[in-house]
Amino acid sequence: MKKILITGGAGFIGSHVVRRFVNQYPDYHIYNLDALTYAGNLENLRDVEDAANYTFVKGDITDAVFLDELFANTDFYGVVHLAAESHVDRSISDPLAFVVTNVIGTVNLLNAARKAWKDDLANRGATNRLFYHVSTDEVYGELHDPNEFFLETTSYDPRSPYSASKASSDHFVRAYHNTYKMPVVISNCSNNYGPNHFPEKLIPLMIHNIMQKKPLPVYGKGENVRDWLYVEDHARAIDTIFHRGKVGETYNIGGHNEWKNLDLVLLLCKIMDDKLGREPGTAESLITYVTDRAGHDLRYAIDATRLKTELGWEPSLQFEEGLEKTVDWYLENQAWLDNVTSGNYKKYYEEMYG
Ligand SMILES: NC(=O)c1ccc[n+]([C@@H]2O[C@H](COP(=O)([O-])OP(=O)(O)OC[C@H]3O[C@@H](n4cnc5c(N)ncnc54)[C@H](O)[C@@H]3O)[C@@H](O)[C@H]2O)c1
Repeated sequence: MKKILITGGAGFIGSHVVRRFVNQYPDYHIYNLDALTYAGNLENLRDVEDAANYTFVKGDITDAVFLDELFANTDFYGVVHLAAESHVDRSISDPLAFVVTNVIGTVNLLNAARKAWKDDLANRGATNRLFYHVSTDEVYGELHDPNEFFLETTSYDPRSPYSASKASSDHFVRAYHNTYKMPVVISNCSNNYGPNHFPEKLIPLMIHNIMQKKPLPVYGKGENVRDWLYVEDHARAIDTIFHRGKVGETYNIGGHNEWKNLDLVLLLCKIMDDKLGREPGTAESLITYVTDRAGHDLRYAIDATRLKTELGWEPSLQFEEGLEKTVDWYLENQAWLDNVTSGNYKKYYEEMYG
């Protein structure tokens, strides 16, 4: 049974990746390593927690001693590394926390793998191990020309403390490939949306506030453009790259689905007025323009041609369909939303594990 370590598996994207790997690969044993920060929530994984091929490990990637012991005690075939501080606004108020988790945490993980896999790394191109690092399109900076897209070859130009920390972690992963022969693969994905998204991010925040009839804060004039991808499509891309990606390579993942923030919020307002049986325009009247985020990148847009032509991956959902599924999930899971917004998100863990 191949043992796979997935970090950050209690978070938004990580929980979808863990579920997919546990369900698709009964011959793998999936270890979900997560520190359960404010963003980690084991309720996201209730449906797989009793699976025979799943183990939750509470631990912090900033703790190098703990990681070394974990790798010494368990012979991991591969790592899928998602654990991170992930919210740009939080990185603006506390950049160092992002350096510690995203940079030092990643290097700790690389070091633990390097020590545990040293005999395999002695052979360049070791095919019996894989370190998969999950990154973001934000490392490429921002776009102004509407005809331009981020390619795998686009130079890095991170502009927020979050994207700078992710860019730095990407550089370390590549450096370990070059210097120590670590078999790595990296993917850089656009904005995700879907179930289990913590309601500090745009889409779940708007859904939450529309439900509660609270103001809908839109940065600046709402003109920033993001490329949105349904989270299960991202999990499927990670599965594809983990199994068929070329070691040492980078793959961009995107939805080819660009939306201005304001247009996206207006679409959500329409969907939600309809679903909640409210008068058209009710949600829109809650829109409030707020001071723009410092250094707010104008546009991100991914060219995911490589992933399509080389590995055959494409997004499966149209945005409107994915958004409806997402809204339905939040409407059906108000207890989840109440729990994470009331600060009780660790309650489930404490009940389960003391
Ligand atoms: N959300 C997006 O749109 C998006 C897009 C592209 C790439 N990414 C990347 O995907 C990854 C996951 O993003 P997400 O949105 O699911 O994040 P998230 O904030 O929802 O989840 C992060 C998870 O990591 C865990 N974690 C944080 N610090 C930790 C530590 N020190 N040790 C162990 N676990 C720790 C948290 O408890 C949480 O479960 C990140 O690396 C992020 O940069 C996210």
